[in-house]
Amino acid sequence: MDKKRAFIILGPPGAGKGTHAARLITDLDLSNISTGDILRDAVKSGTELGRKAQEYMERGELVPDEIVIPIVEEKIVSDRASGFFFDGFPRTLNQADALDEMFSRRRIAVEKVIYLSTPDRVIVERLCGRRVCKVCGATYHVKNIPPIKAGVCDSCGGELIIRTDDDEKTVLNRLEVYRRQTADIINYYRGKGLLTEINGALPVDEVYPRILDALGPKPSAVSSGPGAQGGMTGDDQ
Ligand code: AP5
Repeated sequence: MDKKRAFIILGPPGAGKGTHAARLITDLDLSNISTGDILRDAVKSGTELGRKAQEYMERGELVPDEIVIPIVEEKIVSDRASGFFFDGFPRTLNQADALDEMFSRRRIAVEKVIYLSTPDRVIVERLCGRRVCKVCGATYHVKNIPPIKAGVCDSCGGELIIRTDDDEKTVLNRLEVYRRQTADIINYYRGKGLLTEINGALPVDEVYPRILDALGPKPSAVSSGPGAQGGMTGDDQ
């Protein structure tokens, strides 16, 4: 059996990890493992996991490792995809060690880690203007990446809502938590020679080709067309 591929996208809240992951998994035919999405789905469904995670997420704190790590392992074991794209995991050095351990027991290798460096002022502006589709999870921004029709998802027609952790106070705490608990991961992967830093403050259509370049030669399915993240119509919400 061929070795499975794995890629990781790192960066502060609002750096654009989810926006680019949504395009990359389609273009590169990978399975997306977004711990934020998994946890939000659990909160929405009212599962035990969701009940445990909700209070941490609403405060902008990290959900404890002993809750998050088993979720990722379960996904890796059950998913038959040819490779994985990790968005939002790992987020602590302990999670990074756990991922190495999971991979060493299977034929999986981290090929590249993309780090989207983005200054705080850009992050606050992005997160306070973010809108997400209640139905399919597609992400927009009221000014930068607006939907064609205000408040309505271009992809599925679902209602666009504000994430509960996107108010300014929680965003500032998420940034603090990122600096305190997640930033060390950058040096961890840099030390392994896997990291490529990309300026995440550039417009989406300038960042995306840089990510594709950094990931290296890919299957012929790689597309260079515009993504599914809504056009620049100038329509505000
Ligand atoms: P998670 O969902 O992972 O949130 P995050 O890391 O804070 O990142 P975001 O989803 O807020 O931002 P993003 O980088 O994906 O940006 P996006 O593409 O949306 O985690 C949420 C919570 O879950 C955590 O706080 C924690 O509690 C918990 N959690 C998750 N994983 C965990 C783990 N491993 N361990 C413990 N706890 C965990 O873009 C943002 C906005 O900017 C959008 O409006 C977008 O349209 C716009 N935009 C994006 N790129 C550009 C661009 N280049 N130019 C202009 N606008 C842009």
